[in-house]
Amino acid sequence: MTIKPLAIGIKRYIPWWGKIATKLLLSQLPNREKFLNDISIFSSEPTMEEPIYAYNTFKEHLNRAKPEKGFVSLELGPGTSLFSGMISWALGGSASYLVDVGDFALKDIQLYQAMEDFLKQKGLPTPDLQNAESLKSILESCSAHYLVSGLSSLQAIPDESVDFIWSQAVLEHIRKADFFDIMRELRRIIRNQGVCTHYVDFKDHLDCALNNLRFSESIWESDFMARAGFYTNRIRYSQMLDLFEKAGFEVEVLEVQRWDRLPTPRENLSKEFRNLSDEELCICDLFVLLKPA
Ligand SMILES: C[S@@+](CC[C@H](N)C(=O)[O-])C[C@H]1O[C@@H](n2cnc3c(N)ncnc32)[C@H](O)[C@@H]1O
Repeated sequence: MTIKPLAIGIKRYIPWWGKIATKLLLSQLPNREKFLNDISIFSSEPTMEEPIYAYNTFKEHLNRAKPEKGFVSLELGPGTSLFSGMISWALGGSASYLVDVGDFALKDIQLYQAMEDFLKQKGLPTPDLQNAESLKSILESCSAHYLVSGLSSLQAIPDESVDFIWSQAVLEHIRKADFFDIMRELRRIIRNQGVCTHYVDFKDHLDCALNNLRFSESIWESDFMARAGFYTNRIRYSQMLDLFEKAGFEVEVLEVQRWDRLPTPRENLSKEFRNLSDEELCICDLFVLLKPA
């Protein structure tokens, strides 16, 4: 039984600080990832666990990257759904990597069979999963490799072996201290003609504002805060573009969304953010394309 609908109903009445307090408490629970996912207090629908949403998201990235048939893809941060391995295969990929920092994937075979039905209805090729016994066998059938050790996993992937790297709402979650190393690994892994596309959400993951910028670096980057499920690295737009370039990418900004005005009062921001321009702080979403420079 899921309590998601109830949680979605009440979350709009909880202020940002109440969400932080609740999540910090919940983060002390054993098996907290599953529980936090079940109650979904902070995430918004739809999710990558829905075939149509996962398919459309993958297509959005693929249509922008346009890798050649037979491509090898890498999804950074798949979260709970490993549908992208199946979708990549169905859309002409020869192999895929799905790299996360932990084993968060849902293991229910029926979910993947639902994805198979969805792809079949679209007339796309898909491995036959009707007798699949485990997630492992499903992944093998579409040459997908699920790696769950973050940076170390990336380090194990050969140089220039991937054509298409993408992520959806992930780059803002990479621990700040790891961000540049991860970018350098992605640069090492991508082929010279390869393309990366990333959708980045700069909003706080509390109230879709800038409440995350209220905290000092030492508090925010502490493990206690970072493991509670609302962590974002707070790297701002210009700094992120700069880090992409320093890691060896040519950067093309495809889309930027902005707030009309600051969603959180400037005087409440921590001093390291207070002096940033409105233009910088008002950028809330980014779709970016990276090529090896
Ligand atoms: C908000 S979830 C997004 C999941 C999925 N992309 C989606 O759109 O539903 C962020 C994901 O990024 C992953 N993540 C955070 N840091 C990472 C890292 N250093 N390397 C790979 N994945 C990471 C998290 O574990 C989580 O699965």
